[in-house]
Amino acid sequence: MSTSDRRHNPGVGREVAIGVVGATGAVGPVTLELLRERGYQNLRAFASARSAGKQLDGLTVEEATPEALSAGDLDVCLFSIGTAASRELVPHAVRGGAVAIDKSSAYRLQDGIPLVVPEVNGARALEHDGIVANPNCASIPLTCVLKPLHDAVGVARVRLATYQAASGAGTERMERLRAQDPAEGDLEMDWEFDGEEFDEEAKLRAETRKILELPELPVSATCVRVPVMIGHAESVWIETEEPLSPDQARRLLAAAPSVRVEDIPSARGAAGEDEVLVGRIRPDRAAEDNGIALFLACDNLRKGAALNAIQIAELLLARRPVAV
Ligand SMILES: NC(=O)c1ccc[n+]([C@@H]2O[C@H](COP(=O)([O-])OP(=O)(O)OC[C@H]3O[C@@H](n4cnc5c(N)ncnc54)[C@H](OP(=O)(O)O)[C@@H]3O)[C@@H](O)[C@H]2O)c1
Repeated sequence: MSTSDRRHNPGVGREVAIGVVGATGAVGPVTLELLRERGYQNLRAFASARSAGKQLDGLTVEEATPEALSAGDLDVCLFSIGTAASRELVPHAVRGGAVAIDKSSAYRLQDGIPLVVPEVNGARALEHDGIVANPNCASIPLTCVLKPLHDAVGVARVRLATYQAASGAGTERMERLRAQDPAEGDLEMDWEFDGEEFDEEAKLRAETRKILELPELPVSATCVRVPVMIGHAESVWIETEEPLSPDQARRLLAAAPSVRVEDIPSARGAAGEDEVLVGRIRPDRAAEDNGIALFLACDNLRKGAALNAIQIAELLLARRPVAV
Protein backbone atom coordinates (compact mmCIF):
# COMPACT_ATOMS: atom_id res chain seq x y z
CA MET A 1 0.00 0.00 0.00
CA SER A 2 1.35 3.39 -0.90
CA THR A 3 2.20 5.87 1.82
CA SER A 4 1.70 8.99 -0.23
CA ASP A 5 -0.18 11.87 1.32
CA ARG A 6 -0.89 10.21 4.68
CA ARG A 7 -0.04 13.25 6.75
CA HIS A 8 -2.47 14.50 9.37
CA ASN A 9 -3.75 18.01 9.54
CA PRO A 10 -1.95 20.01 12.12
CA GLY A 11 -4.05 20.38 15.22
CA VAL A 12 -7.52 19.88 13.84
CA GLY A 13 -7.70 16.63 11.91
CA ARG A 14 -7.88 14.23 14.81
CA GLU A 15 -10.81 15.83 16.58
CA VAL A 16 -13.04 16.64 13.67
CA ALA A 17 -16.40 14.81 13.64
CA ILE A 18 -16.82 12.96 10.35
CA GLY A 19 -19.92 11.16 9.14
CA VAL A 20 -19.43 8.46 6.53
CA VAL A 21 -22.79 8.23 4.80
CA GLY A 22 -23.10 5.06 2.74
CA ALA A 23 -20.76 3.24 5.09
CA THR A 24 -22.01 -0.23 4.13
CA GLY A 25 -21.46 0.13 0.37
CA ALA A 26 -18.42 -0.43 -1.82
CA VAL A 27 -16.87 2.98 -1.12
CA GLY A 28 -17.93 3.45 2.54
CA PRO A 29 -15.71 0.81 4.18
CA VAL A 30 -12.68 2.04 2.20
CA THR A 31 -13.48 5.56 3.42
CA LEU A 32 -13.56 4.37 7.04
CA GLU A 33 -10.32 2.42 6.60
CA LEU A 34 -8.49 5.41 5.10
CA LEU A 35 -9.84 7.78 7.76
CA ARG A 36 -8.61 5.47 10.52
CA GLU A 37 -5.20 5.12 8.82
CA ARG A 38 -4.94 8.89 8.77
CA GLY A 39 -5.69 9.15 12.49
CA TYR A 40 -9.29 10.35 12.52
CA GLN A 41 -11.14 8.91 15.50
CA ASN A 42 -14.39 10.81 15.80
CA LEU A 43 -16.21 8.85 13.10
CA ARG A 44 -19.84 7.88 12.60
CA ALA A 45 -21.22 5.42 10.08
CA PHE A 46 -24.55 6.03 8.33
CA ALA A 47 -26.51 4.01 5.80
CA SER A 48 -30.14 3.28 5.01
CA ALA A 49 -32.71 1.91 7.47
CA ARG A 50 -31.81 -1.56 6.13
CA SER A 51 -28.41 -1.40 7.82
CA ALA A 52 -29.24 0.53 10.99
CA GLY A 53 -27.81 -1.25 14.05
CA LYS A 54 -25.22 -3.31 12.12
CA GLN A 55 -21.68 -3.29 13.46
CA LEU A 56 -19.04 -2.01 11.07
CA ASP A 57 -15.40 -1.35 11.87
CA GLY A 58 -16.25 -0.92 15.57
CA LEU A 59 -19.11 1.48 14.82
CA THR A 60 -22.86 0.97 15.06
CA VAL A 61 -24.40 1.94 11.75
CA GLU A 62 -27.00 4.71 12.11
CA GLU A 63 -29.85 5.42 9.74
CA ALA A 64 -29.09 8.51 7.66
CA THR A 65 -32.27 10.40 8.49
CA PRO A 66 -32.67 14.13 7.85
CA GLU A 67 -32.83 14.64 11.63
CA ALA A 68 -29.60 12.74 12.34
CA LEU A 69 -27.69 14.54 9.59
CA SER A 70 -28.93 18.02 10.50
CA ALA A 71 -28.44 17.69 14.26
CA GLY A 72 -25.37 19.93 14.13
CA ASP A 73 -22.81 17.52 15.58
CA LEU A 74 -20.96 16.68 12.36
CA ASP A 75 -18.22 18.80 10.78
CA VAL A 76 -17.79 16.85 7.57
CA CYS A 77 -20.04 14.31 5.86
CA LEU A 78 -18.59 12.07 3.19
CA PHE A 79 -21.52 10.85 1.09
CA SER A 80 -21.45 7.74 -1.12
CA ILE A 81 -25.12 6.82 -1.37
CA GLY A 82 -26.12 7.38 -4.99
CA THR A 83 -27.60 10.33 -6.82
CA ALA A 84 -31.25 10.25 -5.72
CA ALA A 85 -30.42 9.68 -2.05
CA SER A 86 -27.75 12.40 -2.14
CA ARG A 87 -30.21 14.89 -3.59
CA GLU A 88 -32.49 14.15 -0.68
CA LEU A 89 -30.01 13.94 2.21
CA VAL A 90 -27.02 16.18 1.43
CA PRO A 91 -28.99 19.42 2.06
CA HIS A 92 -29.86 18.23 5.58
CA ALA A 93 -26.20 17.73 6.47
CA VAL A 94 -25.41 21.19 5.13
CA ARG A 95 -28.32 22.65 7.10
CA GLY A 96 -26.79 21.10 10.23
CA GLY A 97 -23.54 22.94 9.54
CA ALA A 98 -21.45 20.14 8.03
CA VAL A 99 -19.52 20.42 4.81
CA ALA A 100 -20.86 17.69 2.52
CA ILE A 101 -18.48 16.04 0.10
CA ASP A 102 -20.65 14.11 -2.28
CA LYS A 103 -19.48 11.31 -4.56
CA SER A 104 -22.66 10.93 -6.58
CA SER A 105 -23.41 12.80 -9.79
CA ALA A 106 -26.16 14.86 -8.09
CA TYR A 107 -24.16 18.09 -7.79
CA ARG A 108 -21.09 17.60 -9.99
CA LEU A 109 -22.14 19.82 -12.85
CA GLN A 110 -24.21 22.29 -10.86
CA ASP A 111 -23.01 25.90 -11.21
CA GLY A 112 -21.48 27.22 -8.02
CA ILE A 113 -20.60 23.76 -6.68
CA PRO A 114 -16.91 22.96 -6.94
CA LEU A 115 -15.98 19.66 -8.59
CA VAL A 116 -12.59 18.89 -7.17
CA VAL A 117 -9.52 16.75 -7.68
CA PRO A 118 -7.13 18.26 -5.11
CA GLU A 119 -3.99 17.84 -7.24
CA VAL A 120 -5.70 19.47 -10.22
CA ASN A 121 -7.99 22.24 -8.95
CA GLY A 122 -7.77 22.01 -5.16
CA ALA A 123 -8.16 25.77 -4.67
CA ARG A 124 -11.72 25.51 -6.02
CA ALA A 125 -12.74 23.47 -2.95
CA LEU A 126 -12.42 26.59 -0.82
CA GLU A 127 -15.17 28.29 -2.83
CA HIS A 128 -17.82 25.91 -1.54
CA ASP A 129 -21.11 26.92 -0.02
CA GLY A 130 -21.55 23.72 1.97
CA ILE A 131 -21.21 21.14 -0.81
CA VAL A 132 -18.13 19.97 -2.70
CA ALA A 133 -18.64 17.36 -5.42
CA ASN A 134 -16.25 14.46 -5.93
CA PRO A 135 -15.87 13.56 -9.61
CA ASN A 136 -16.61 10.27 -11.32
CA CYS A 137 -14.07 7.50 -10.69
CA ALA A 138 -12.91 7.63 -14.34
CA SER A 139 -12.64 11.45 -14.48
CA ILE A 140 -10.34 11.66 -11.44
CA PRO A 141 -7.39 9.65 -12.82
CA LEU A 142 -7.84 11.15 -16.28
CA THR A 143 -7.56 14.72 -15.00
CA CYS A 144 -4.61 13.83 -12.75
CA VAL A 145 -2.76 12.80 -15.91
CA LEU A 146 -4.02 15.55 -18.24
CA LYS A 147 -3.30 18.45 -15.87
CA PRO A 148 0.53 18.33 -15.88
CA LEU A 149 0.54 17.81 -19.66
CA HIS A 150 -1.87 20.69 -20.16
CA ASP A 151 0.20 23.02 -17.99
CA ALA A 152 3.30 22.23 -20.06
CA VAL A 153 2.08 22.08 -23.66
CA GLY A 154 -1.70 22.62 -23.72
CA VAL A 155 -4.14 19.76 -24.22
CA ALA A 156 -6.14 20.24 -27.44
CA ARG A 157 -8.15 17.00 -27.79
CA VAL A 158 -8.69 13.79 -25.81
CA ARG A 159 -9.98 10.42 -26.92
CA LEU A 160 -10.22 7.51 -24.54
CA ALA A 161 -11.54 4.02 -23.94
CA THR A 162 -12.18 2.83 -20.40
CA TYR A 163 -12.02 -0.63 -18.81
CA GLN A 164 -14.02 -0.17 -15.60
CA ALA A 165 -14.17 -2.57 -12.67
CA ALA A 166 -17.31 -4.13 -11.20
CA SER A 167 -16.79 -2.32 -7.88
CA GLY A 168 -17.41 0.96 -9.68
CA ALA A 169 -21.05 -0.10 -9.85
CA GLY A 170 -21.32 -0.93 -6.13
CA THR A 171 -21.57 -3.95 -3.86
CA GLU A 172 -24.37 -5.70 -5.74
CA ARG A 173 -22.31 -5.79 -8.91
CA MET A 174 -19.29 -7.04 -6.94
CA GLU A 175 -21.41 -9.90 -5.57
CA ARG A 176 -22.57 -10.74 -9.06
CA LEU A 177 -18.98 -10.93 -10.31
CA ARG A 178 -17.96 -13.10 -7.34
CA ALA A 179 -20.78 -15.52 -8.11
CA GLN A 180 -20.05 -15.62 -11.82
CA ASP A 181 -18.17 -18.40 -13.61
CA PRO A 182 -15.01 -16.63 -14.88
CA ALA A 183 -15.48 -18.30 -18.25
CA GLU A 184 -18.82 -16.49 -18.56
CA GLY A 185 -17.29 -13.04 -18.05
CA ASP A 186 -18.13 -10.45 -20.68
CA LEU A 187 -17.72 -6.78 -21.45
CA GLU A 188 -20.71 -4.64 -20.54
CA MET A 189 -21.96 -1.14 -21.10
CA ASP A 190 -24.32 -0.81 -18.20
CA TRP A 191 -24.92 2.92 -18.07
CA GLU A 192 -27.90 4.93 -19.26
CA PHE A 193 -27.96 5.30 -23.04
CA ASP A 194 -29.22 8.52 -24.64
CA GLY A 195 -29.41 7.08 -28.17
CA GLU A 196 -25.85 8.14 -28.96
CA GLU A 197 -23.72 7.90 -25.84
CA PHE A 198 -23.83 6.28 -22.42
CA ASP A 199 -24.17 8.82 -19.63
CA GLU A 200 -20.79 7.73 -18.26
CA GLU A 201 -19.21 8.93 -21.53
CA ALA A 202 -21.00 12.27 -21.40
CA LYS A 203 -20.05 12.64 -17.71
CA LEU A 204 -16.40 12.07 -18.51
CA ARG A 205 -16.46 14.87 -21.08
CA ALA A 206 -18.41 17.35 -18.95
CA GLU A 207 -16.50 16.65 -15.74
CA THR A 208 -13.08 16.79 -17.43
CA ARG A 209 -13.99 20.15 -18.92
CA LYS A 210 -15.20 21.52 -15.59
CA ILE A 211 -12.23 20.27 -13.56
CA LEU A 212 -9.61 21.48 -16.05
CA GLU A 213 -11.60 24.68 -16.73
CA LEU A 214 -11.48 24.00 -20.45
CA PRO A 215 -15.18 24.30 -21.38
CA GLU A 216 -14.61 23.60 -25.09
CA LEU A 217 -12.12 20.73 -24.78
CA PRO A 218 -13.06 18.00 -27.28
CA VAL A 219 -13.35 14.73 -25.33
CA SER A 220 -14.64 11.51 -26.84
CA ALA A 221 -14.93 8.41 -24.66
CA THR A 222 -16.06 4.81 -25.01
CA CYS A 223 -16.76 3.36 -21.57
CA VAL A 224 -16.75 -0.38 -20.96
CA ARG A 225 -17.28 -2.43 -17.78
CA VAL A 226 -14.89 -5.39 -17.56
CA PRO A 227 -15.01 -8.47 -15.30
CA VAL A 228 -12.40 -7.11 -12.88
CA MET A 229 -13.20 -6.51 -9.21
CA ILE A 230 -11.21 -3.35 -8.44
CA GLY A 231 -9.27 -0.92 -10.65
CA HIS A 232 -10.37 1.18 -13.58
CA ALA A 233 -8.03 1.40 -16.59
CA GLU A 234 -8.10 3.83 -19.51
CA SER A 235 -6.42 4.01 -22.93
CA VAL A 236 -5.97 7.69 -23.69
CA TRP A 237 -4.97 9.48 -26.90
CA ILE A 238 -4.05 13.12 -26.30
CA GLU A 239 -3.42 15.82 -28.89
CA THR A 240 -1.46 18.77 -27.60
CA GLU A 241 -1.08 22.40 -28.72
CA GLU A 242 2.70 22.18 -28.74
CA PRO A 243 4.90 19.17 -29.49
CA LEU A 244 5.33 16.67 -26.64
CA SER A 245 7.80 13.82 -26.83
CA PRO A 246 7.16 10.59 -24.90
CA ASP A 247 10.26 11.29 -22.81
CA GLN A 248 9.01 14.75 -21.93
CA ALA A 249 5.56 13.34 -21.08
CA ARG A 250 7.17 10.68 -18.90
CA ARG A 251 9.17 13.32 -17.03
CA LEU A 252 6.14 15.56 -16.53
CA LEU A 253 4.04 12.67 -15.29
CA ALA A 254 6.78 11.31 -13.02
CA ALA A 255 6.88 14.72 -11.32
CA ALA A 256 3.10 15.06 -11.05
CA PRO A 257 1.41 14.59 -7.65
CA SER A 258 -0.47 11.30 -7.13
CA VAL A 259 0.82 9.89 -10.42
CA ARG A 260 3.30 7.01 -10.73
CA VAL A 261 4.91 6.06 -14.02
CA GLU A 262 5.17 2.32 -14.67
CA ASP A 263 5.94 0.38 -17.85
CA ILE A 264 2.61 -1.42 -18.06
CA PRO A 265 -0.02 -0.37 -15.53
CA SER A 266 -2.78 -2.83 -14.67
CA ALA A 267 -6.01 -2.74 -12.71
CA ARG A 268 -4.72 -5.35 -10.28
CA GLY A 269 -1.48 -3.40 -9.87
CA ALA A 270 -3.48 -0.26 -9.04
CA ALA A 271 -5.80 -1.94 -6.52
CA GLY A 272 -4.89 -0.88 -2.99
CA GLU A 273 -2.63 1.93 -4.24
CA ASP A 274 -3.17 5.64 -3.77
CA GLU A 275 -1.54 6.80 -7.00
CA VAL A 276 -2.75 6.78 -10.57
CA LEU A 277 -0.45 4.43 -12.49
CA VAL A 278 0.44 5.59 -16.00
CA GLY A 279 2.53 3.92 -18.70
CA ARG A 280 2.66 2.78 -22.33
CA ILE A 281 3.62 6.39 -23.07
CA ARG A 282 4.28 6.57 -26.79
CA PRO A 283 3.66 8.70 -29.86
CA ASP A 284 0.15 8.48 -31.27
CA ARG A 285 0.98 7.43 -34.82
CA ALA A 286 -2.54 8.28 -36.00
CA ALA A 287 -2.45 11.90 -34.82
CA GLU A 288 -2.02 14.61 -37.46
CA ASP A 289 0.63 16.18 -35.23
CA ASN A 290 1.47 16.44 -31.53
CA GLY A 291 -0.22 13.23 -30.44
CA ILE A 292 0.64 11.03 -27.50
CA ALA A 293 -0.92 7.76 -26.35
CA LEU A 294 -0.83 6.33 -22.84
CA PHE A 295 -2.50 3.81 -20.56
CA LEU A 296 -3.52 4.44 -16.96
CA ALA A 297 -4.96 2.45 -14.08
CA CYS A 298 -6.37 3.62 -10.76
CA ASP A 299 -8.08 2.09 -7.71
CA ASN A 300 -11.63 3.35 -8.27
CA LEU A 301 -12.54 2.90 -4.61
CA ARG A 302 -9.51 4.84 -3.33
CA LYS A 303 -8.28 7.72 -5.53
CA GLY A 304 -11.41 7.29 -7.66
CA ALA A 305 -13.69 7.81 -4.67
CA ALA A 306 -12.84 7.55 -0.94
CA LEU A 307 -9.30 8.95 -0.97
CA ASN A 308 -10.10 11.87 -3.27
CA ALA A 309 -13.02 12.88 -1.04
CA ILE A 310 -10.87 12.66 2.11
CA GLN A 311 -8.19 14.78 0.43
CA ILE A 312 -10.86 17.38 -0.35
CA ALA A 313 -11.94 17.33 3.30
CA GLU A 314 -8.34 17.78 4.38
CA LEU A 315 -7.95 20.82 2.14
CA LEU A 316 -10.92 22.35 3.92
CA LEU A 317 -9.88 21.25 7.41
CA ALA A 318 -6.43 22.73 6.93
CA ARG A 319 -8.17 26.11 6.54
CA ARG A 320 -10.19 25.82 9.76
CA PRO A 321 -9.18 28.60 12.13
CA VAL A 322 -9.59 26.61 15.35
CA ALA A 323 -9.78 22.98 16.38
CA VAL A 324 -13.25 21.57 16.84
N1 LIG B 1 -17.92 2.44 -6.40
C1 LIG B 1 -17.10 3.36 -6.90
O1 LIG B 1 -15.99 3.09 -7.41
C2 LIG B 1 -17.51 4.81 -6.87
C3 LIG B 1 -16.59 5.76 -7.28
C4 LIG B 1 -16.95 7.10 -7.30
C5 LIG B 1 -18.22 7.46 -6.90
N2 LIG B 1 -19.10 6.51 -6.50
C6 LIG B 1 -20.43 6.95 -6.10
O2 LIG B 1 -20.65 6.66 -4.73
C7 LIG B 1 -22.01 6.31 -4.50
C8 LIG B 1 -22.12 4.96 -3.79
O3 LIG B 1 -21.37 4.04 -4.48
P1 LIG B 1 -21.09 2.58 -3.94
O4 LIG B 1 -20.37 1.94 -5.06
O5 LIG B 1 -20.48 2.56 -2.59
O6 LIG B 1 -22.61 2.00 -3.87
P2 LIG B 1 -23.19 0.74 -3.09
O7 LIG B 1 -22.15 -0.29 -2.91
O8 LIG B 1 -24.43 0.37 -3.80
O9 LIG B 1 -23.56 1.31 -1.65
C9 LIG B 1 -24.58 2.25 -1.47
C10 LIG B 1 -24.52 2.76 -0.03
O10 LIG B 1 -25.50 3.79 0.09
C11 LIG B 1 -26.41 3.46 1.12
N3 LIG B 1 -27.72 3.98 0.79
C12 LIG B 1 -28.44 3.72 -0.31
N4 LIG B 1 -29.61 4.42 -0.28
C13 LIG B 1 -29.60 5.13 0.86
C14 LIG B 1 -30.50 6.03 1.47
N5 LIG B 1 -31.66 6.37 0.91
N6 LIG B 1 -30.16 6.57 2.66
C15 LIG B 1 -28.99 6.27 3.24
N7 LIG B 1 -28.09 5.41 2.71
C16 LIG B 1 -28.40 4.86 1.54
C17 LIG B 1 -26.38 1.95 1.20
O11 LIG B 1 -26.85 1.54 2.47
P3 LIG B 1 -27.53 0.09 2.71
O12 LIG B 1 -26.40 -0.88 2.75
O13 LIG B 1 -28.20 0.27 4.02
O14 LIG B 1 -28.45 -0.15 1.56
C18 LIG B 1 -24.88 1.70 1.01
O15 LIG B 1 -24.19 1.98 2.19
C19 LIG B 1 -22.68 6.36 -5.88
O16 LIG B 1 -23.25 7.64 -6.05
C20 LIG B 1 -21.53 6.20 -6.83
O17 LIG B 1 -21.78 6.82 -8.08
C21 LIG B 1 -18.78 5.19 -6.47
